[in-house]
Amino acid sequence: MSAPLVIAVDGPAAAGKGTLARRLAAHLGLPYLDTGLLYRATGRRVLDAGGDPADPAAAEAAARALAPEDLARPDLRAEEAAAAASKVAAIPAVRAALLDFQRRFGAARGAVLDGRDIGTVVFPDAPVKLFVTASPEVRAARRHAELLARGVPARLEEVAAEMAERDARDSARGVAPLRPAEDALILDTSALDAEAAFAAALALVESARARGDSTGS
Ligand code: DC
Repeated sequence: MSAPLVIAVDGPAAAGKGTLARRLAAHLGLPYLDTGLLYRATGRRVLDAGGDPADPAAAEAAARALAPEDLARPDLRAEEAAAAASKVAAIPAVRAALLDFQRRFGAARGAVLDGRDIGTVVFPDAPVKLFVTASPEVRAARRHAELLARGVPARLEEVAAEMAERDARDSARGVAPLRPAEDALILDTSALDAEAAFAAALALVESARARGDSTGS
């Protein structure tokens, strides 16, 4: 019997990977995991305890103590949780603590997982890897519009600066940095709306699966 299908969707903040990954999962009948939530919930737990998300001991303890209800919190989408997530995510012990959960999730019934290191670290053998990206200007504008739509006051320049800082930290860290896997298919969504991005992603997934079938991998 062949292994369950795992699709890795990686990329920087606000490239549209979450929306895409969720839609691909629904379309293909696969479970979906937003792995950023694990890091956001870990960061949030540290903040709640009055700790520093960059403190390795506090962050590892928070990651190990994560419970399902932590992932359902309504405040994980806020910028405060995002910044804390990016800090705890640079700590090797935090990544190690969260690795097993992600692997078990994907191995059980196959899955679409989105994050930063799914194709490089969590599932390096995934038969389909997408790296979803967009220009920094487009990503900042999207995140800004998203915040305003949620009624969160935000200035475009500040959103752009925070995003640049987070991307730099995610890309520069020593452990599992944000980068495309060598065999990832790159999807630039700068000029695509959600519908066009989904159609392009689906075409890439289908061509990758067809190639995998024909090579028997
Ligand atoms: O995708 P997101 O914005 O929810 O991710 C929040 C932070 O978590 C992001 O700055 C980097 C980190 N992250 C990570 O390091 N590895 C992942 N697989 C997912 C997220």
